[in-house]
Amino acid sequence: MRVAETLKSANREEADLLTKLDLKRLPNHVAIIMDGNGRWAERRHLPRIAGHRAGMKRVRDVIETCARLHLPCLTLYAFSLENWRRPEAEVDFLMRLLREYLKRELPEIHKNNIRLLIIGRSQQLPEKVSKEITDAMQQTAHNSGMKLVVALNYGGRAELADAFNAMLDRARQNGLSSFRADEQTISDHLYTAGLPDPDLLIRTSGEMRVSNFLLWQIAYAEIYVTDVLWPDFSRARLLDALLDYQTRERRYGGLGAKHSRAAPPERDGKPSRSGPHSTPSVGG
Ligand code: FPP
Repeated sequence: MRVAETLKSANREEADLLTKLDLKRLPNHVAIIMDGNGRWAERRHLPRIAGHRAGMKRVRDVIETCARLHLPCLTLYAFSLENWRRPEAEVDFLMRLLREYLKRELPEIHKNNIRLLIIGRSQQLPEKVSKEITDAMQQTAHNSGMKLVVALNYGGRAELADAFNAMLDRARQNGLSSFRADEQTISDHLYTAGLPDPDLLIRTSGEMRVSNFLLWQIAYAEIYVTDVLWPDFSRARLLDALLDYQTRERRYGGLGAKHSRAAPPERDGKPSRSGPHSTPSVGG
C-alpha cells in the first residue's frame, strides 16, 4: 500500500506529510490532552460549548487517522476529575456530548475493529453515562485492532491512590508481611494495566503542563506541545506531531543507540526491561 493511501481522501498537504512519515517507526501509544476548545469558541464570539462541539469533530478525525496508521493504542483525555469545577451547564453539556458521541460513533468504532476502553472513576459518573460506557466497552471487548482509551472522570493522582489501595487490599488477603511492590506491580494495578506506556504525549493550545494526566505512564514519553487549539487540530497537525516524534532520540536515561549496552542492569531483583518501565539512571 502506498503511504498516501493510508489516509482516505488525503489532501495535498496530508499526502506530502505522509510521504515523509516512516510507517515502521510510529509510536505504539499516543496520548492526547485535547485543550483549547473554550478559547477557540471565545475567539469566534461563540459560547464555550460551541468549542466542545467543534472539538468533537477532531476526535473523530484523530481516531480514524490513528486507526488507519495502525497505531496500537490512542488515549484521549476527555474529562478530568478537576473538570467538575466548571459551571454545571458546561459539565452537563460535556456529558451529553459524550453520550451522543457513543451513540453515533460506536457502530463505526466496532466496524473498524477498535476496542474502546474507558479509564477513570467512571462509577462516580451519572448513572446513565456509567451504564452506557460499560455497555460500549462490552460491545467492543473482543475487537483486536487499535485500543481507544478515553480518560473520563480521570486524575493521575487518583489513579495512583486507587492502585495503591488495590495493592494493599490484595496484600491484606495474601499476608501483608511478605508484600513488596516493584514498578511492574504498580503498573499492573493502574487503570491502564496491560497497555503500553505512551511514547508520545501531545498537548494542544500551548500550555506547558501535564495536568494530572497519566503521571506514572508518561515517565519516558516524548512531549509535543502545539499552539494549535484542539478544534483546529486537523489530520495534518497530527501528522506534524508524528513526524516530530520521529526526529527524537529516545534514551531512557542512557546515552542513546551509539553507546547502548547489550544487557540493561538488574532492577528489583529482576532483569530490567528496556523501555518505558525501566529507570536505569536519572536524566535523559
Ligand atoms: C479542553 O478545552 C477540553 C475539554 C475539557 C473537553 C474535551 C472533550 C471533548 C472534545 C469531547 C471528548 C469526547 C470524546 C468522546 C473523547 P477547554 O474547555 O479547557 O479549553 P480552554 O482551555 O480554551 O478553556
